[in-house]
Amino acid sequence: MDTQKLLCSVLCCFLLSILSGRQQAVQGHYVPSDIRPLKLFVFGDSYADTGNTNKSQAAWIFPYGITFPGKPAGRFSDGRVLADYVAKFLGLESPIPYEGWKSSSCGIPLLKHGMNFAYGGTGVFDTIFPGPKMTVQIDFFEHLLKDNVFTAKDLEGSVSFVSLAGNDYFTHISTNGSAEGLQSFITTVVNQLAINLKRIHGLGVKKIAVTGIVPFGCLPPFTGKSSFQQCNETYNSFVGFHNLLLNQTVEKLNRETKDSPFFIIDLYASFTSAIKNEGSIKFENPPLKPCCLGVSSEYFCGRVDENGAKLYTLCENPKSAFFWDAAHPSQQGWRAVYSALQATLEQYFLH
Ligand SMILES: *[C@@H]1O[C@H](CO)[C@@H](O)[C@H](O)[C@H]1NC(C)=O
Ligand SMILES: *[C@@H]1O[C@H](CO)[C@@H](O)[C@H](O)[C@H]1NC(C)=O
Ligand SMILES: *[C@@H]1O[C@H](CO)[C@@H](O)[C@H](O)[C@H]1NC(C)=O
Ligand SMILES: *[C@@H]1O[C@H](CO)[C@@H](O)[C@H](O)[C@H]1NC(C)=O
Repeated sequence: MDTQKLLCSVLCCFLLSILSGRQQAVQGHYVPSDIRPLKLFVFGDSYADTGNTNKSQAAWIFPYGITFPGKPAGRFSDGRVLADYVAKFLGLESPIPYEGWKSSSCGIPLLKHGMNFAYGGTGVFDTIFPGPKMTVQIDFFEHLLKDNVFTAKDLEGSVSFVSLAGNDYFTHISTNGSAEGLQSFITTVVNQLAINLKRIHGLGVKKIAVTGIVPFGCLPPFTGKSSFQQCNETYNSFVGFHNLLLNQTVEKLNRETKDSPFFIIDLYASFTSAIKNEGSIKFENPPLKPCCLGVSSEYFCGRVDENGAKLYTLCENPKSAFFWDAAHPSQQGWRAVYSALQATLEQYFLH
């Protein structure tokens, strides 16, 4: 590296670290002093991805990101996603996306809060979407540990957030044309997920939270037929099976591991409560109807025709809608989910 570049990156990094330190003091929600240095390592899919996804994906086109950061920047929402709220809960800034870090000349200070390895569309196994599956994301993390980008000391008090929203099942259903054979596939997915969680722990992360799957049958593609009035209970019962199996598997993992490091973030219950408008945050849009809705049956948000005319409709106020697009909550939706989850996060992350 030539001197000028080195100097520039040192300065830039110094400034960045001051700025991020200040921001943390303002934003900090909870910084347990006994478990510093705290870092957050994020794995999984679009409910956690803050900018890793392939630039050809919807998350990089208008109107994604209009609420935060104000322009499309790789989040599958109008604004913040669940990983951002988990970071906030821990008193951290949202950790830098792996892809952003790789392409930056500014190294260490950017790593202060951990790293986000989640890619929208991915699953435990390969899916119909691009992006590295969870095992490959963990490989990235392992390489950074081998290269001492993160040290053993960095992992003291570190925590992990793993999001698994169901892209494996979406892939299974759409490539097989039905839910047939899904039951045995669920077992395969949960078993591999358990191996992945154990591996993250084995690499030195102290606490690991994994999401249960949301009520899949309440996602817009499955409620559109009923004008966004009714969830499809067939799909919800499959999700119920996944979540039950995940519960048993995580219980078993904890029995086999000192300190019971694993816990489940119950997105099924928190989504359900938000969709039913039971929390303090209320949604005016019919709660099952997304803010950004494709005009075709494919429900794609953000698509335009060859003349640039929108092939989607956008609600007036994204805050009024729980769902942003066909698969993802709006920032306000995530806020509602987060507020339903806060007690669980306190119970498990902080003890
Ligand atoms: C991004 O996705 C497109 C298609 O979805 C694919 O052709 C391309 O190879 C991907 N690029 C990367 C870097 O993964
Ligand atoms: C389709 O179903 C078969 C039989 O259940 C299963 O083995 C296969 O993995 C499924 N395909 C996908 C992409 O999940
Ligand atoms: C729910 O989905 C299943 C499987 O695709 C389908 O057979 C069923 O008709 C759907 N039910 C409703 C109420 O739409
Ligand atoms: C499994 O479910 C039981 C009953 O709902 C609950 O008390 C327990 O905390 C769950 N275990 C995990 C690991 O989430």
